[in-house]
Amino acid sequence: MAPSVVYRIISLMVSFLPVRLRAKLWIYLMRAGARRWQRESAAQRIPGGMYVKASSLIRLSEGQVLRYVRTHTPLPVPIVVDNFTFGEITFLVMSRLPGRPLNEVYRDITPEVESFLSAQLSRILAPLRALPPPSDAVSGWDNSPVYCERVAFGSPPVGPWESVTAFHQELMARARRLVVPEEKAEVVHDVVQRAHSRPQRICLTHNDLGAHNVLVDANWKITGIIDWEVCAWMPEYWELTKGTFLVQYRKGRWNRVMTAVFPMYALELEAERYIVNYRECYA
Ligand SMILES: *[C@@H]1O[C@H](CO)[C@@H](O)[C@H](O)[C@H]1NC(C)=O
Repeated sequence: MAPSVVYRIISLMVSFLPVRLRAKLWIYLMRAGARRWQRESAAQRIPGGMYVKASSLIRLSEGQVLRYVRTHTPLPVPIVVDNFTFGEITFLVMSRLPGRPLNEVYRDITPEVESFLSAQLSRILAPLRALPPPSDAVSGWDNSPVYCERVAFGSPPVGPWESVTAFHQELMARARRLVVPEEKAEVVHDVVQRAHSRPQRICLTHNDLGAHNVLVDANWKITGIIDWEVCAWMPEYWELTKGTFLVQYRKGRWNRVMTAVFPMYALELEAERYIVNYRECYA
């Protein structure tokens, strides 16, 4: 990690090179990095305190989102050093943030640490959630379709939807119907119906806010929020429900941290859990 000005200088210098050379440079550094550091999902750490994502699945919007979040909020997110598409491959080069992902130290999270984390997250996320949405639509960046494994698992992105109501209709249509034990049917349908009729603001949503994407230092201070690939304009409760959607986060530490950050969406969370548990169709 270097001061941000260093990344800006690197960024400026490489911007004078043709993309063919930039692609070569980053691939060379990725090979060098792979000899020292294991690949972390899509990202390869490279020398110089940077990460590179390079694949046909990366989208340029991730760089745009990072730049937008960095310039409009004080959130600790990576600096974009380079981003371009060469042939079929999109490259995203970012600065490395200090700290390590929370999931690597997950077992050490005590109840006191949970409260400390949720207090920090509430404060850190507030400016992101205060950004004015471009419209009433539920959509990806730039009114694009939404990548979300909760909405459409393993399929191409879906949407956008002109309103939260239209989005909820799609969720219910995709579930096809809820297969609920008879004694619970009334409660479940009532909760879902009430949750889906509450007015919702649209918030810029990280949309994969799990322990694996939150970096902390040795004192549990949050040093970064990473992996903005599926960031989207979603109903205000979605950060909570999607952030606790992965099986390992539905209970326990991360669920407690997130519900403490977003206590106001208990009804929406209950509804989402019902839909996810009882939906007939998964796609
Ligand atoms: C990233 O790409 C956008 C175009 O999509 C460009 O305007 C921007 O300057 C690039 N950023 C860097 C740091 O290369």
